[in-house]
Amino acid sequence: MPNPFKPTAGKMPPILIGRQSIIDDFKEGLENGAGAPGRLMLITGQRGYGKTVMLTELGRVAKDAGWEVISETASEGMCDRLASALVRPGMKLRGVNVQPSIGVSGILNASLGGASFSVDQVALTLREVVNQRLAKMPRGKGIVFTIDEAQAASMADMVALATTIQHVIRDEDMRDVSDSDKHGVAFVFAALPSLMDELLHERVLTFLRRSVQHDLGLVAYPDVRSAYIEVVREGGLAIDSEVAELAAEASDGYPYMIQLVGYYMWRAAEVRGSKEIEEADVIQGKKDALVLFDDAVCAPLFDGLTAAQKLFVKAVAKEAPQPAKVSEIANRAHRSASWVSKYRASLIKERVVESAGYGLVRLSASHLAEYVQSLR
Ligand SMILES: Nc1ncnc2c1ncn2[C@@H]1O[C@H](COP(=O)(O)OP(=O)(O)O)[C@@H](O)[C@H]1O
Ligand SMILES: [Mg+2]
Repeated sequence: MPNPFKPTAGKMPPILIGRQSIIDDFKEGLENGAGAPGRLMLITGQRGYGKTVMLTELGRVAKDAGWEVISETASEGMCDRLASALVRPGMKLRGVNVQPSIGVSGILNASLGGASFSVDQVALTLREVVNQRLAKMPRGKGIVFTIDEAQAASMADMVALATTIQHVIRDEDMRDVSDSDKHGVAFVFAALPSLMDELLHERVLTFLRRSVQHDLGLVAYPDVRSAYIEVVREGGLAIDSEVAELAAEASDGYPYMIQLVGYYMWRAAEVRGSKEIEEADVIQGKKDALVLFDDAVCAPLFDGLTAAQKLFVKAVAKEAPQPAKVSEIANRAHRSASWVSKYRASLIKERVVESAGYGLVRLSASHLAEYVQSLR
């Protein structure tokens, strides 16, 4: 029987659990005409919380509603690729006829004499392309841009995009038609929590601070349990409700773990030649799941920290799951109290550490403590 679970980055799960309110928010934004809040959205969350699949789902919603969808992952040349994705043969940019084979950079190169492009030029080009595409769209419809890994965007790209968004919205606003007939643009950004904080501090990006922000959280156990029951039974195996409950607990409600535990408990049952997933399969499933979780989530999270943050995290992990006294961390790390408060704050922002009562902290990132302890 094919395993119905999808423990792979960016892969749509069999059931997208616990995210309906975000989808509704976004739908409302599209339906409510120009200026609706859901048209500028920022989705944050650590690795494996389901940012990429949310973007996919919102893209699908937008397509169903008759909008065009352009999806990009932020990296060098993002704005250029966004513009290229919108260019159509026959479009004229700065009076130059577009040939798709040349692409947008080619046109810029030709018309600007090959100079490297300033942020303003890129923004101007993107604005021109977007406006030309919008002009061809049915009334009230528009373009949705989804930008994944926005924390990795270069400042130049983000500034160009911000400028474009503001201009396109204004251009459309000036058209003499009713708000519901105006063409729209919507932007959904997905990013890691901490790095986004840095971007948001840039003055030019204040518009992003006004976006509707959804910080993806863990999924509630009852929702996970019923999804397990539905997916397993639909897939052709049996599971009773207590076992599904155990599996939900084993996953912590962490979206990536939900798929991992599901996948490996299914496999454990099949290896036994059983038609039913039982408690032992959940236990085995969780064990197998954690190996992959360490590699895919804990390792990149820990490796991405600065040396000082790592030292702090190790000190907190020493007696986990017991929380650590803030005063004790200074001792363990051989650092001053002000050092501790600095890195405590930075790691709280990064959702790696959380307060565990007065003067106490613990690691909040799932399974990070076990991972860090295993490093020694
Ligand atoms: N709401 C959800 N319910 C169940 N599984 C989910 C959910 N969101 C994501 N997943 C699963 O979690 C894993 C990670 O999703 P992904 O979108 O790649 O996360 P991120 O982009 O935040 O790192 C995938 O296997 C995906 O199928
Ligand atoms: Mg992703």
